[in-house]
Amino acid sequence: MQEELINLKNEAIAQISGANGSAELEELRAAYLGRNGKFTVLVKKIKDVPEENRKSFGITLNESKTAIENLLTDKKHELIKSLSEKRDWFDLTMPGVKPTLGHLHPLTQVSNEVNKIFNYLGYQIADGPEIETDYYNFEALNIPKDHPSRDTQMTFYVEDGRILRTQTSAMQGRVMELGKPPFKVLVPGRNFRYEQVDASHGFEFWQVEGFVVDENIHLTDLLGTISYVLGELFGKETKIRFATTNFPFVEPGVDTYLKCTICKGKGCSFCKGTGWSEIMPAGMIHPNVLTMAGIDSKKWNGFAFAIGLSRIVNLRYQIKDLRTLTTPDMRILSQF
Ligand code: DAH
Repeated sequence: MQEELINLKNEAIAQISGANGSAELEELRAAYLGRNGKFTVLVKKIKDVPEENRKSFGITLNESKTAIENLLTDKKHELIKSLSEKRDWFDLTMPGVKPTLGHLHPLTQVSNEVNKIFNYLGYQIADGPEIETDYYNFEALNIPKDHPSRDTQMTFYVEDGRILRTQTSAMQGRVMELGKPPFKVLVPGRNFRYEQVDASHGFEFWQVEGFVVDENIHLTDLLGTISYVLGELFGKETKIRFATTNFPFVEPGVDTYLKCTICKGKGCSFCKGTGWSEIMPAGMIHPNVLTMAGIDSKKWNGFAFAIGLSRIVNLRYQIKDLRTLTTPDMRILSQF
C-alpha cells in the first residue's frame, strides 16, 4: 500500500510537470485530488492498512497530497507566465499576474513631508548643483582656505578643481546673490564627504538646508521655528534640547538634540550613549556671509539651519544603521 502511494505520487508529479495547458492541469487535478481522484480513493482505503502502519501511511499520504497541490499551483503560475510571455493567445478566464507596485523611497517620503511643513511656513524650495565650487561650499560661508573647520568636512575633489558639495549650506550664497531680501528658502539635497562608512556615517547623506533673511530676526524666531518643525515631524510631546556650538557661518551657533527615539533616552549606539540625538544644527547667519553675498548686514539679518534627512528617517522608523536606507534591497524598502 505504501509503495502504491509512492508510485502514485511519482506518476502525478511526472504528469503535472509535463502538462501543456490549463485545461490539462484541471483534468489532472480532478484525476488525482477530485472526489473520485486516485488520492481520494486511497484515503478511503486507509482502514485496510494494518494498524501499526496506519499512522505513517496517513502522514505520507497527507504530505503527498500537499506536494501535489503545491506543484499544481506552481505549474499553473508557470503556464500563465509562459503564456503572457508568448502572447499568441489570451485566456480571459485565467487569473492575472499581479504586477508589483512601486512606491516612494522613505527618504523621498520624509523629504516631501519636510517640504510641506516649510511650504506652510512660507518657504520657497531651491535646488542646486551637487558638483560645487570651493567658493560657494566654503568661502562664501565664511570658511577661508586655511580655516580649521575644513578638516571636519573631508572633501571629494573633481578633476577641474570643483568639489562634491559637503553641505547644502552652499546654496545660501547662490540664492542670496541671485535675489533680494527678504528670503525664506529651503534647500533639500545630497551631500558628500570622505567618511569611513559605518552605522552612523556614510559618504553621502541627505540634508535640508533652510534660511531666513529679513529685518529684525531674533534667535527666538529660530528656536520657535525648530520647535514647531520637530513637533510636526515627531509629535508635540517630543523632547528637544538646545546647546551652543560653533559653525563659521553662524553666530551664535545652535545645536538641536532630539531625545533618542530608538532607546527612548536610555543611551544606545545610535545616540552614542547620550540618550540625545543631534538632529538640527543652526544659528544666526554671520554678517560676513550676508556681506559677501552683497547684502547690507546692518539692515538685514537672519537664521539658518540644517536638517539631517537620513537621521530623521532613522529616528522615525528606528533604524539603527544608516546603510539600511541606501541598499537597493526590496525586502527592506517595501516595508516603508
Ligand atoms: N552645513 C552644516 C554641516 O553640514 C550644518 C549647518 C550648521 C547648517 C549650522 C546650518 C547651520 O545652516 O546654521 O555640517
